[in-house]
Formats: sequence, structure tokens, C-alpha cells
Amino acid sequence: MRALSLLLVLSSLAEAVSVGQRRKVVQSFNVRRTKSSDTTPLQVGNGNFAFGADVTGLQTFKPYAIMSTWGWHNFSLPTTPGQTSIDDYTGLQMWTHGRLVTYEVPNPAQNDISNWLRENPHRLNLASVGFDFGRQNVTEDDLQNKAQELDMWTGRLSSSFVYDGSPVKVETWADPDSDTIAVNVNSKALRQGLGLFFDFPYPDNQKFNAPFVGHFNLTSKHSTALEQLTSNSAGIQHTLDATTYYTHISWTGHGKITAPTDGTHRHTFTSSQTNVQLTITFSPSPNLQHPTTHSGVTSSSRSWWQTFWTRGAFIDLSSVPEDPRARDLQQRIILSKYLTAVNSASYYTPQESGLVNNGWNGKFHLEMTLWHTLPFARWNHLALFRRSQPSMYHQFLPSALARAKMQGYAGARWGKMSDPSGRSAPGDINALLIWQQPHPLYFAEVEWRASPGGDDMRTTLARWEEVVDATADFMASYAWWNASTGVYDLGPPMYPVSENTNPNVTRNPAFELAYWRFGLDVAVRWRERLGKPVPAEWVKVRDGLAPLPMVDGTYAVYEGIEGMWTSNATTNDHPAMAGIYGLLPPPASGTPLDVDALRKTAAKIKELWALDFSYGWDFAMLAMNSLRLGDPEQAVEYLLHPIFQFDDAGYPVGGSRVPTPYFPNSASLLIATAMMAGGWDGSDGKAGWPKFWEKHVRVEGFSPAM
Ligand SMILES: *[C@@H]1O[C@H](CO)[C@@H](O)[C@H](O)[C@H]1NC(C)=O
Ligand SMILES: *[C@@H]1O[C@H](CO)[C@@H](O)[C@H](O)[C@H]1NC(C)=O
Ligand SMILES: *[C@@H]1O[C@H](CO)[C@@H](O)[C@H](O)[C@H]1NC(C)=O
Ligand SMILES: *[C@@H]1O[C@H](CO)[C@@H](O)[C@H](O)[C@H]1NC(C)=O
Ligand SMILES: *[C@@H]1O[C@H](CO)[C@@H](O)[C@H](O)[C@H]1NC(C)=O
Ligand SMILES: *[C@@H]1O[C@H](CO)[C@@H](O)[C@H](O)[C@H]1NC(C)=O
Repeated sequence: MRALSLLLVLSSLAEAVSVGQRRKVVQSFNVRRTKSSDTTPLQVGNGNFAFGADVTGLQTFKPYAIMSTWGWHNFSLPTTPGQTSIDDYTGLQMWTHGRLVTYEVPNPAQNDISNWLRENPHRLNLASVGFDFGRQNVTEDDLQNKAQELDMWTGRLSSSFVYDGSPVKVETWADPDSDTIAVNVNSKALRQGLGLFFDFPYPDNQKFNAPFVGHFNLTSKHSTALEQLTSNSAGIQHTLDATTYYTHISWTGHGKITAPTDGTHRHTFTSSQTNVQLTITFSPSPNLQHPTTHSGVTSSSRSWWQTFWTRGAFIDLSSVPEDPRARDLQQRIILSKYLTAVNSASYYTPQESGLVNNGWNGKFHLEMTLWHTLPFARWNHLALFRRSQPSMYHQFLPSALARAKMQGYAGARWGKMSDPSGRSAPGDINALLIWQQPHPLYFAEVEWRASPGGDDMRTTLARWEEVVDATADFMASYAWWNASTGVYDLGPPMYPVSENTNPNVTRNPAFELAYWRFGLDVAVRWRERLGKPVPAEWVKVRDGLAPLPMVDGTYAVYEGIEGMWTSNATTNDHPAMAGIYGLLPPPASGTPLDVDALRKTAAKIKELWALDFSYGWDFAMLAMNSLRLGDPEQAVEYLLHPIFQFDDAGYPVGGSRVPTPYFPNSASLLIATAMMAGGWDGSDGKAGWPKFWEKHVRVEGFSPAM
């Protein structure tokens, strides 16, 4: 008996990764740079707010962004007659199973308001904060001994350089609890004219703003007003059309902020000391909601990050011998964890480019929320998962109910390319994509599995109930009873995960059918857990869904697709058939998956798919499919595929189709590696690692994936 409990203690010790060891692993990947990157900053931030720095620790030479979840702007509405209000926009009707349904697609007769709705609101770069040298034309090349290190264990960015013979040392920190940065500058040069500038840009209507967001030369389109508050603080009010927000700056010792007199918005700060500490807060409100101090920010940052790294789940691959792939994978994991906490742990789904720059006008995409949000639950950061779940769905519920009603469906139809208003931007793909619909059911189930039990589980059930019901009601109502085949069809018109098919003929795509079944299974179980009756319609649709489409013993993109595997048009974009066994668990009801077909499909994808034209999360989806098929070697190969790239600071490279960074890649890597570490239901403790890694990998804090 004693021997047995001793054994248990020993085996759990062997699993644990000590705080010291975690620290060693994390800090071994601290990012070091000696010059600014042309494409990515180094960031400090808190998930809802982030500051992107160049090699000076500020935004001196490269105007990387300061972005938030709340900073948005609208251009004025069009003045075209009949298109002057968002209520004028009608969308377009399309025949859908014998009736006309209105979709939020661009209406060619209403181009101006359609475009306005897509481009507005857009996310703002709040400001630019950099060194002012007191003279013109200083370039990065004029600085010597440039060096910087981002310490992920504390959230501190330390930068140093020599300017005009004087060493300059800079520390940049972000507050975990408010939209504040703390900056410490130490240099004799501060007494000889080195100062800081605070400048403010004006946005544009471009779809992508990368690597920089906004324009500093459109000075007459917006205004700033400086207000001295005390001898050690000032506020700058920035007004752009109907948007106003505030930058609150406080400093230690003697210092002064001067407003520009040349019609620009470049305010300058100077100090007569050799060391100055600044605390800079951005806020939509003139009053500070969470006043803090420089030392308040630095101590909160230290403790927040240490808690993040020690309480969350952990993978330690540092003892895997003689395989450089282990170090590569470890680096991707650690940097992805840092960057997703800074960019993606927000109250809403983040943008694909997080808080680094703008893609799709700064909006977010509800089909991508699964990738972005799931890692927080899978890596044991439930509090970060709960920042948006389920509150985001509750907030969007009224507009989703209205959308479904307008189209003649029951329940809630979730939008796609969105913003905090819950509106879905006009777009063909935006209106016809459907795989975002079951996501809340996936989240609900994941949170249920992560809840420790008892009261917490009852809270989880209650918290999601309304969203689960409305989601399942729509899904059941959207599926269409085809009397001639005697099954429920999905589409047409619709776009599947791979957005490259003709929506007018796309019917019964493999992934969406599997996901509908999964979602309705969850919804039925939710009702059973609540002890409430299950709507008959949910069960009828779930059990009557069309069978998954097959071609030559493989799963096909959709039913009736022409040239599957023989035409290159069928083998590019997302290989979502790998998602039915990668992202989704095997079906809990109905016809089981055909494992031979899954194997054959995976082999065909490996042989034929145009992966260099893929979005990066395809690799993680393929890796998870490989894991369930018992091939962890292949999973590691996919996660280190030459097309699936991350830069020196861990930013996921956009690839051939989108700018850098593209954070679904980072998030999907974390979901796949959590599955390697924690296994999955039915994996029976079978490791998800290459055979000779197994003995050397140490993991802690994971639970099995579904
Ligand atoms: C932009 O305009 C839309 C539509 O009128 C509105 O819902 C939203 O609140 C506005 N956002 C901002 C930041 O002004
Ligand atoms: C689909 O049908 C609509 C009319 O319902 C048409 O406007 C559109 O061009 C068609 N799309 C394609 C890709 O054929
Ligand atoms: C800065 O560079 C610009 C463009 O090369 C030049 O016109 C200007 O005279 C320079 N200013 C100073 C102060 O050297
Ligand atoms: C204004 O700045 C943008 C970059 O933000 C640049 O592309 C453009 O050329 C500038 N325009 C003028 C007139 O300097
Ligand atoms: C019923 O399903 C068959 C097979 O998928 C399809 O060809 C047919 O068009 C469907 N019927 C209707 C009315 O959509
Ligand atoms: C398919 O191959 C043809 C001929 O090589 C090429 O022109 C076309 O761009 C390819 N299409 C795709 C989607 O890769």
C-alpha cells in the first residue's frame, strides 16, 4: 500500500516540470534583435492592448502599431442618394430551395453603402511613441551598439543603443490590467536634447494595413489637444470625426510636454534628468479607469507572466536528444504562447493579425474564432478563454437572431467578418460560409470538459444554455429536407471551408456535414445534462443528415464535385476533409467514419494537395489528423513544414495569400501540440510524439482532446 502510493507520487513528480525548469525553457527562447525588422515589431501587451516596438524599444524609426479592442473609427457615410444610411443597405436575394432569401452580399446597385459597411468601422492605430533626437534626419544607422531582448518570463523589453556617444537604455512594459505602457529611459543624452515624441495617425479604407497602420501626413483631417494636468502629467485628446480617445502621460521628476505649432500632431516630451520613467495610458474615457504607476505596471507584468508560465500547461522538449526538430517545435510553442497571450486573449475574437497591424480593415472573423480561442482552454488558461466565451456570443445573439429571422430560419445565424457591433460585413463568402455556426457548441463542450466539477459545471451549463439552444435551432432549421433522396442537405447556396467552390452547386460538404452532426450531438447532450426535453427537430436533422460524400474510397470536398483528385482545382485551399478526424472527434452517434477512407484521403492530400497555396492552419489540421491515424512522425513533419513559417520573434508568416502575421497559425500549432501532449478520447495514453522522443518529453497540465 505504502509502496504503491510512493510509486504514484514518483510518477506524478516525473511528470511535473518545475518552475525553475519552465523558466529555463521559456527564457532560452527570449527574442534578441540588433536591428528593426521590416515586417514585425517586438510587442508587449495584454490581449486587449499591445504596443509594437522597433529596435529602440519604442516606435522611433518604424511606426509599428499601438492597438486595442476598443479603438475603432468610421468614415462618414456615403452621400449617394438612397445609400446614406446603413438601413438603406438591402443585400441581395438568392434562390434557396425554392424561395428567395436575403443575404448580406454586396449589392451592385448599392456599391457605395456596401463598401462602406465592409470598410467601417476599422480598427485604429492609437498613436506612435518614439525618440525625438531634437534634430532631423537621424536614422537607425546613426545609432551604435543596438541590442534588445524580450524577456518572456517577465514581459520586459530591454533595448539599448549609443546615440552621439551616449549610451541609452530603455525598458518597455505593458500593464496586464489596463491599456498602459511603462517606459524607463536612462541616458545622459536626455539632458542634451534627447526626448520622446507622441504622434497620432489617421486611418484609411485599405483592406490590409501591413506592416504599418495609418498615415501621419493627413494632419488636417483630425485634431489633437494637449492639456497639462499636473506638473508631472498631461492628457492628449485625439479626435477623428466621431471618434475621440485620450492618451494620459505621467512622468517622474522634471519634464515637459510641448504641443506642436506646425499643424502636425507630433507632441514632444523633454526632461532635464538622466533617468525618467513614463506611464502612458490609452483610454476611450477622459478619466483613468484603472490608474496605475510605473512600478505598478512593472510589478504586475512580472507577476502576471510568471503566473501565466507556471500555472498553464507546459511541454518541455529540451531533453529530447539529437533531433533538431524538437528544439524547433519547442521554440514555436513558446513564442506562440507569448504572442497569442499578447494579441489574441481579448474580449472579442482577435484579428488574424492580432494587434500587430490591420487585415480586413481591422475586423475579425467568426469562423477563425475556433483557432484563436481554443488554445487558451486546451493549455489550461481558462480565464483567458472566458474573456470572450460565451460573452461574445451573448453580445452578438440579438443580431444573429435577427439575421436568421430575416432569412426565414429559426435560431441564431452567426455572422462572419465582424466588429464589436456584431454586424457581418457584406461579402459573397462572408454571407455564404457556414462552418462558424457550430463553433459555440464546440466551445461549450470544451469548457464543460475543463470545468472541475460540481457547481462550476452547473454554472457552465447555465452560461451557455441560451447560446446552445439558438445555435442548434438555426442548424436544424438550415438543413433542408430533400424528399427525393430522403436526407437533410446542407446548401446550396453555400461556401464550404475551402472558399473556392461554386456556391450555387456546393451541396453536402464533408466537413460541414460532420460538424453539423457533432454540433447537434453536443446540443442534445446539453439539454440532457440540464434535465430538459430535447427538441425533436434537432434529433431528426442530426439522424437524417446526408452521408459524407465519397469518391473512390476517399472523402470528397462536397457531394458531386467534379474531378476530385484528378483536377488541380479540387486540391487546393483548405483540405477540410482532414478536419473531420483532425479537428473533430469521431461521431458520437450515427454512421462511424470509415478509417480506411480517412487513411486513403490523408495519403491523397499528402500526395496531391497544393500546400504552398495553403493558409498555415491547414498544417496543424493535417497534423491532428495524422495523430489520430497513429502517425506522430507525420504530425511533426506537418508542424515543421517549410511552408509553415515563423520569423525570428515567432510571428507566423502570412505566406502567399495574406500579410504577416497570420495568428491562426500560432493558435493551431498550440491546439495540435496540446493534442500531442494530452492525447485524446480513445487514445488510451498512446503518446502523440515520435517514438524516440517519448521517453524524454515532459508534459504537465493537459487533458485529452475530444
Ligand atoms: C460606426 O458606425 C456604425 C454604424 O452606424 C456604428 O454601429 C458604430 O458604433 C460606429 N463605430 C464607431 C467607432 O464610431
Ligand atoms: C450563383 O447564382 C447567382 C444567382 O442566384 C448568380 O448571381 C451568381 O453569379 C452565381 N454564382 C456563380 C459562381 O455561378
Ligand atoms: C534631411 O534630409 C532631407 C532629404 O534628404 C534634406 O532635404 C534636408 O535638408 C535634411 N535636413 C537636415 C536638417 O539635414
Ligand atoms: C503620406 O504618407 C504615406 C504613408 O503613410 C505615404 O505613402 C505618402 O506618400 C505620403 N504622402 C505625402 C504627400 O508625403
Ligand atoms: C436532392 O438531392 C439530389 C442529390 O444530391 C440533388 O441532385 C437534387 O437537386 C436535390 N433536390 C433538390 C430539389 O435540391
Ligand atoms: C491548374 O493547372 C493549370 C495548368 O498547369 C494552371 O494553369 C492553373 O493555374 C492550375 N490551377 C490551380 C488552381 O492551381
